[in-house]
Amino acid sequence: MSTILTPALTAHWDDPTSFELETYRRHGGYRALPKALAMQPDQVIQTVKDSGLRGRGGAGFPTGNKWGFIPQGDGKPHYLVVNADESEPGTCKDMPLMLANPHVLVEGAIIASYAIRANRAFIYVRGEVLHVVRRLHHAVAEAYQAGYLGTNILGSGFDLDIVVHAGAGAYECGEETALLESLEGRRGQPRLKPPFPAIAGLYACPTVVNNVESIASVPFIVANGASDFAALGTERSKGFGIFSLSGHVTTPGQYEAPLGVTLRELLDLAGGVRAGRRLKFWTPGGSSTPILTDEHIDVPLDFEGTAAAGTMLGTRGLQIFDETTCVVRVALRWTEFYRHESCGKCTPCREGTYWMVQLLADLERGAGSDDDLDKLLDISDNIVGRAFCPFGDTAVSPAVSSIKYFRDEYLEHRKHGGCPFDPAASTLFAPEPTR
Ligand SMILES: Cc1cc2nc3c(=O)[nH]c(=O)nc-3n(C[C@H](O)[C@H](O)[C@H](O)COP(=O)(O)O)c2cc1C
Ligand code: SF4
Repeated sequence: MSTILTPALTAHWDDPTSFELETYRRHGGYRALPKALAMQPDQVIQTVKDSGLRGRGGAGFPTGNKWGFIPQGDGKPHYLVVNADESEPGTCKDMPLMLANPHVLVEGAIIASYAIRANRAFIYVRGEVLHVVRRLHHAVAEAYQAGYLGTNILGSGFDLDIVVHAGAGAYECGEETALLESLEGRRGQPRLKPPFPAIAGLYACPTVVNNVESIASVPFIVANGASDFAALGTERSKGFGIFSLSGHVTTPGQYEAPLGVTLRELLDLAGGVRAGRRLKFWTPGGSSTPILTDEHIDVPLDFEGTAAAGTMLGTRGLQIFDETTCVVRVALRWTEFYRHESCGKCTPCREGTYWMVQLLADLERGAGSDDDLDKLLDISDNIVGRAFCPFGDTAVSPAVSSIKYFRDEYLEHRKHGGCPFDPAASTLFAPEPTR
């Protein structure tokens, strides 16, 4: 059994009142805030830079550098926007984090706002997850009452208001500029970049957009020092992260470990693939990250290791599929999600995802031709690099990566005149209802 867990953000989730202010304080919470307020804002930025923290929302951009891009002395309001939209299939770390420990996010947001000289911060949360929205409102109200929010926080002269904003549940609203459009009350479609949010973000003012887990990692860094965080992880992927295991695994759940941990180690902690079964394929970080197979069980799960294996670390939403699962069906299901969630702004993604679903559906029921596989790859080629926002590139991942590793299984559907798998043997999909 591996002992590589590093519970920091998840350390007290099993406390029945983990979400309450008093519990958070009892476990050392709000210790970092006075320390940060005693530093110069630029020192806080430097500390986060020194820690090596990279964005936990998927792209892995260095957080301290992002904060450093905010112009100073420009006379404009600055904003912090916490991206709590989490909507990608397989990704499920931010919601449990905010449910179990909303105060670590609130504390991180206060420190981050202080560092970038913002007096207003927004938490843009996926509104469908009502219990999380309620927890956030409760935590923010508690923080106001305790003097951690409002005017002259802890006598420092720093003022901050936090607004919890519930989005209406669109995956594209997690893309940072679509999020800003939505926050301003418009349709959630992305903006042309540049200008980047650091220069012209919310209400055309300098804005930092950061993922929940990125901001929630900040109190640890300030309280314990940048070097404690940087001591964990790998050379260019520092610190710890939440790895969410779901699917055909004995003990699904959240496993907090240093970046660079492998699937083999995580499966060891999670009791392995469900009894009597073996690993067939998996995603390292949600449905937008190209799938890997059992050959990749020792790939270091950091930004570099996953890239070298032809995929991405993404959000560390690891979905595990055993040999009873039809990869074509999974690729179809995910592509249907992308077709549904495409915001429609640009033609390659809007039309391409529609046609990909038609082709995948034909292939899955054994009606497609061998040419359809090449057509699928051709459509994908016409989306990648041509779409208006990164959604397009990620939407093709399920089809392209599954064809890469399982072309024969696609062809098998045609020979078989339908899916060669017995759906009843899989716990992932309920059998089709009989009419
Ligand atoms: C379609 C799409 C959906 C996204 N959804 C999220 C999301 O739910 N949460 C998130 O933090 N980042 C999401 N991102 C990434 C954000 O655009 C942005 O990179 C991130 O919030 C930056 O935070 P970080 O630097 O702390 O990772 C999404 C990107 C795309 C293209
Ligand atoms: S790639 Fe185009 S259509 Fe797809 S979500 Fe982005 S802007 Fe919208």
